[in-house]
Amino acid sequence: MKDISNYIETHQNRFISELVDLLKMPSISADSAYKKDVLNTAEAVKKSLLDAGCDLAEICETPGNPIVYGEKIIDKNLPTVLVYGHYDVQPADPIDLWTSPPFDPVIKKTDLHPEGAIFARGACDDKGQMYMHVKALEFMTKTDQLPCNVKFMIEGEEEVGSENLAWFVPRNLEKLANDVILISDTGMIAKDVPSITTGLRGLSYVEVEVTGPNRDLHSGLYGGAVANPINVLSKMIASLHDENNHITIPGFYDKVEELSTEERAEMAKAPFSLEAYKKSIDIDSVYGEEGFTTNERNSIRPTLDVNGIWGGYIGEGAKTVLPSKAYAKISMRLVPHQDWHEITDLFTKHFESIAPQGVRVKVKPHHGGQGYVTPIDSIGYQAASKAYHETFGKTPIPQRSGGSIPIVALFEEQLKSKTILMGFGLDSDAIHSPNEHFGLWNYLKGIETIPWFYQYFTELSK
Ligand code: BES
Ligand code: MN
Ligand code: MN
Repeated sequence: MKDISNYIETHQNRFISELVDLLKMPSISADSAYKKDVLNTAEAVKKSLLDAGCDLAEICETPGNPIVYGEKIIDKNLPTVLVYGHYDVQPADPIDLWTSPPFDPVIKKTDLHPEGAIFARGACDDKGQMYMHVKALEFMTKTDQLPCNVKFMIEGEEEVGSENLAWFVPRNLEKLANDVILISDTGMIAKDVPSITTGLRGLSYVEVEVTGPNRDLHSGLYGGAVANPINVLSKMIASLHDENNHITIPGFYDKVEELSTEERAEMAKAPFSLEAYKKSIDIDSVYGEEGFTTNERNSIRPTLDVNGIWGGYIGEGAKTVLPSKAYAKISMRLVPHQDWHEITDLFTKHFESIAPQGVRVKVKPHHGGQGYVTPIDSIGYQAASKAYHETFGKTPIPQRSGGSIPIVALFEEQLKSKTILMGFGLDSDAIHSPNEHFGLWNYLKGIETIPWFYQYFTELSK
């Protein structure tokens, strides 16, 4: 990849300002009020693909938000890389906690990003990381160095479960045919510790509703004599973990893959400072399943977490009320082999079974997806490893992530190809949180590393 550094240096200001423009568009998929912005963003992505040298780019309609597809096919006999990413973003709230408006990107320096980082919703997840691929393609086409075919599939519903991508993929198998899928929508260990994500957790997301009396009651007149749905829900949720923080749902762990002592020892070699971890999120102690380290707890072990809980009076001051209903949103992160439908069923049965007399319980499944693991001896992994070595001067460490990209398991099932997760974000980039940002160094390093993947993948495929 001749002159990549020069090309990036010459064009970096434009690379940054183009990303800034994309980040100004509030493409929040969870909120239908932003539908127009979502559609505008899809158009902008399509245009960027054409500008970067795609021969074809189109907006593919789905029952939901459109998917942007683009391609540059140079020779049918050469391998094809399919790039996946998402142009939708999470909602920005709580807005008050942003130090600058979420859709008014600004560049600020931080301890970890002395070169500056772009602060905006979607900066890292996933517009910034997706756009690295667009600019990498630009470099390869403008300098005549694209070594193989490339296809892009950028969706607009990743943050809400990719339901319509799951609809789109089986209907477009030929269009999407590829030899490897390349995604930058994860992170790396540190700027000087490159890593390749080899696993993602699955997910089962449910909402529960506990109903007691038919209306809110005076908590003096009725309190003590009628089941309080919030008290009951709290107790039910508390019972979902035992004293060792194991999940108590019968059958929950049945299919969990147990890693060997050797595999766990290998994982433990990844550099990690527990002190820095605690400090970065301001906690005095970590917490979790007995018998596992922090890095194991957040990657190879399944979890159950309440994401939100509400009911009763939450306005200003006090109101003495015994509420009629209580609600919670609960996510379970799953590991490979745990089937998310099965886990959702186990949860539902168990949760209904532990409801005490005096309340009714409803469980409403939301979305979910299977976990993913990928071997490190595939051509794709090897190509990625060599690419990082080229630009970081070090062999990257394979690392399982705790996050989920549910569509990846479906890609493998439908398109029969492996996914390589080359993430350039840092855990501290605050994705989904206020003040999300993406380091300029990371952004440009991604643009520099990606073309090498194409080169090595093409060479190793011969
Ligand atoms: N890009 C993230 C997933 C991610 C981030 C994986 C960092 C590994 C490291 C993705 O956009 C995301 O947020 N996924 C959701 C699941 C989805 C169904 C809403 C998640 O993990 O919560
Ligand atoms: Mn993402
Ligand atoms: Mn996300």
